[in-house]
Amino acid sequence: MGSRRNALDRLWDIIISIAATISAIDIPLRLVLPRHGDGWLYTDWALTALFCIDIFIRRRRADGIAPTFLGRPAGPGWMALDILAALPVQIFGVGTPLHLLRLLKLPRVAQFMRVLRQRGAYNANKLRLIFFPYWLGLCAHWIACGWIALRAAGDSDSFSTYFHAIYWCVTTLTTVGYGDVTPANNSQRFYAMIVMIIGVGVYGYVIGNIASLLANIDPARTKYMETMERLTAFMRYRHIPHDLQNRIRDYYNYLWEKRLGYDESEILATLPSSLGIEVSMFLKRDIIERVPMFKGASQEFIREIALRMRPMIFTPNDYVFHAGEPGREMYFISQGVLEVVSADGADVYSTLTDGDFFGEIALLLGQPRTASIRAVSYCDLYRLDKEMFERVLADYPDIAEHIGRMTRERRENDERRNQAAEATTSASATAEAPTE
Ligand code: CMP
Repeated sequence: MGSRRNALDRLWDIIISIAATISAIDIPLRLVLPRHGDGWLYTDWALTALFCIDIFIRRRRADGIAPTFLGRPAGPGWMALDILAALPVQIFGVGTPLHLLRLLKLPRVAQFMRVLRQRGAYNANKLRLIFFPYWLGLCAHWIACGWIALRAAGDSDSFSTYFHAIYWCVTTLTTVGYGDVTPANNSQRFYAMIVMIIGVGVYGYVIGNIASLLANIDPARTKYMETMERLTAFMRYRHIPHDLQNRIRDYYNYLWEKRLGYDESEILATLPSSLGIEVSMFLKRDIIERVPMFKGASQEFIREIALRMRPMIFTPNDYVFHAGEPGREMYFISQGVLEVVSADGADVYSTLTDGDFFGEIALLLGQPRTASIRAVSYCDLYRLDKEMFERVLADYPDIAEHIGRMTRERRENDERRNQAAEATTSASATAEAPTE
């Protein structure tokens, strides 16, 4: 329901923006190239009607009856501008200077553009690249209209007159200035000087901003490229071995493919806690739902655990930890394959994958790690600290029971394996012992 209203609001904003743009183009033209006929009168009445409806809609949004797509409600200042723009000036004729009041509707377009940028539905830099020619085009049009007004002697038809003027305007604004259309009297010279000064500003703006807009059209990629360049420079400067350099690059490539290079924790840290919890839950819901022992857990539990789990990435052949180390956290596998291996890495005891967990034995029994864990592929893990782990065990008996059962099974397996290994060793020792 809310999204449908928002879509309708957006549609209305687009209609009003188009109407405001049409008047911003048409009205200055009517003043310098007078037109007659009922068609213009109808256009005027249509604009008045649309702008009046818009006043009503903006008022409703301000009262909070309708959702405020434009974010901030219309204040008294905006209301005055809206009313002036909607006045039925056509009762005085189809092309009077009073018609210029319609241009007061243009801030509405600027406001709409700002909201589009803030809403983030589209890339802000791409939008800026669209809005910039819009405003520049409108300014060029007005300047050309001013030029026509000052140069009484026009071409044979209105189109040529306008085209001539816009040609002069573009050559002047872009600082090209061919000089084939020149001012003929002082007022035209004065006007030309002002346009030249504006032209220098526009030129500077274009050079300064468009280049950076183009460079930032994909901010995530720009950030990623910068990070890679800094990293490469650092690795070269510190003579990091080539093999390690490649692994580091692979890691960043993986991060780019999986998360567009963004660090989840960094972004979450910038959000207020209530929003952070929701985003955290959304991001980790997937893994929490995949871990069998969390199935059916309460919303409250999932909230708490989502907040405390920290994401980690491991590249192939990385060790998450080594056998014998003290254990301070356990891990959940969101994605990837890992092996439970002996301290020297030679024997593989078991293979773990999506939804599995490990590292719980050291926490439960308060002893060093019973085995090493090695990543086989790129792995996305979530780490849970000891304190939270203990709270989970205390507050959620079902989960504690599940972890306890898995731990027992694993320990039994390990003991059986150790016994088998010892038996093999003693058998071979007996076989090798000299007989008397
Ligand atoms: P921990 O002893 O803390 O560190 C090594 C981890 O490997 C251990 O916890 C278990 O989570 C896991 N592990 C040990 N033995 C096995 C096994 N046989 N199968 C699966 N996982 C195991």
